[in-house]
Amino acid sequence: MTQADLVIINGSVVSHEATQKAAIAIRDGKIIAVGEESSMPPAKEVLDAKGLHLLPAAIDVHVHFRQPGYTHKETWESGTAAAAMGGVTTVFEMPNTNPPTATPEAFAEKLKLAEQQAYVDFGLYGLMAEDNVDQLEALAGCGVIGFKCFMGNTFGNLPSPSTGAMLEAFERVAPYGLRTSLHAETASIMAWRYERLRAAGRNDALAHIAARPDVVAVEAVSRAAILAEWTGARIHVLHVSSAAELRPMREAKQRGVDITSETCPHYLMMDTRDYASLGSLMRVNPPIREASDSESLWEAVRDGTLDMIATDHAPHTPSEQHNEVIWEADCGFPGVETQMPLMLTAVNKEQITLQEYVRISAVAPAKAWGLYPRKGSLTIGADADITLVDLARQEVIDQESLHSYRARATPFHGWNVKGLPVHTLVRGRFVMRDRKLQSDAKGSGLSVKRVQQMPIAQLANSDKTLAAEVAKVAAKREVLTS
Ligand code: NCD
Ligand code: ZN
Repeated sequence: MTQADLVIINGSVVSHEATQKAAIAIRDGKIIAVGEESSMPPAKEVLDAKGLHLLPAAIDVHVHFRQPGYTHKETWESGTAAAAMGGVTTVFEMPNTNPPTATPEAFAEKLKLAEQQAYVDFGLYGLMAEDNVDQLEALAGCGVIGFKCFMGNTFGNLPSPSTGAMLEAFERVAPYGLRTSLHAETASIMAWRYERLRAAGRNDALAHIAARPDVVAVEAVSRAAILAEWTGARIHVLHVSSAAELRPMREAKQRGVDITSETCPHYLMMDTRDYASLGSLMRVNPPIREASDSESLWEAVRDGTLDMIATDHAPHTPSEQHNEVIWEADCGFPGVETQMPLMLTAVNKEQITLQEYVRISAVAPAKAWGLYPRKGSLTIGADADITLVDLARQEVIDQESLHSYRARATPFHGWNVKGLPVHTLVRGRFVMRDRKLQSDAKGSGLSVKRVQQMPIAQLANSDKTLAAEVAKVAAKREVLTS
């Protein structure tokens, strides 16, 4: 029998369907056997996982690692170290860096930084904005994991595309089958209300919600779903924050739109009552809303309306986060390291089952981006991306010990958690062992573009007249430049 590099014995292996006692053998980064310990091949190393659960490691489709451009907030090294410590082995990184990931050149620059520093595997989003519609095909050719469209502007102030630009962008990307992730808040509504609130002298934390009521998200989700339906483009709704958004989501799914969605721990676990003590530290886009919203979001996680959990890991320095004038505080906080402990705590409280957690943290993201079953499953042939968790282990979240560079202030500071990742393996290699970062794994993360197997996509409709006009202009430009 071929020798394995590592055999993990005595643990419980969890999928979205079942939990069973089993051993796992790994060779060359892949799982080569799952079953009785007695059926395992000989191994260079045996790890005794008594008392631990083996989960397909988490895939976080929404992180901001800030490099290039804002390395005083985070870098690829610190962001992926935080992921490794949080049991996350694949991250999809957002394009609101400086320069934004809006061209093949910017993509190449970021890819290089990520390859040099990453502890975990990663996908890079390309930007879909008003002014780079002509770059989308080239970005798709470079190997972006998908596109990010800021329907409402947020950190980085990238101009949100008009509905017209969005429609053409969807027409262009639909044939590639790449999913477009949406910051689904409508810019013009927010800008209008912001001016009104400022004029009225509102600077308090709750004014942030007043500028972005849930209708802002409802309008954006509904509009994006209409454009996706017409073009056949695949979309993903990022950071769902309200009960009201669930209706257009459910309706779009029923109409057959390829729409997936995520929520984040902060929308499930915090609400308006927390603004009194946390103030601007809680400022995030979209805003954290009412307790009744959180309840509906939990329900939607359980019934599958919300497909997955992501973090919107959005690091800023504490001084950028704290401000008496709410409009001046940077939005967002780190999350990639705390997601799993928080959600395993919810498992311990029986808010969801461990199988449901595996579905929303690993299986659903892998399926939505065409990575399943190579990622998101612990089966023969899959990448050995495994997080070993101790469901009984307790800890108090301490922002000083987070691995995010300089951006350590989190509203979850001081929370008691029960259920912690203990070891993290990326393609069979320890990136965290006994809750310690393995610094020799820096730079071992790979771009997941190579494993992508998106099902064939089809453009449903497109404007033939416009396409012809665009081709004419392009041909003219070629004549002029040749
Ligand atoms: C994010 C950031 O800081 O980049 N901030 C946030 O409040 N969520 C941007 C974003 O995802 O909207
Ligand atoms: Zn966003």
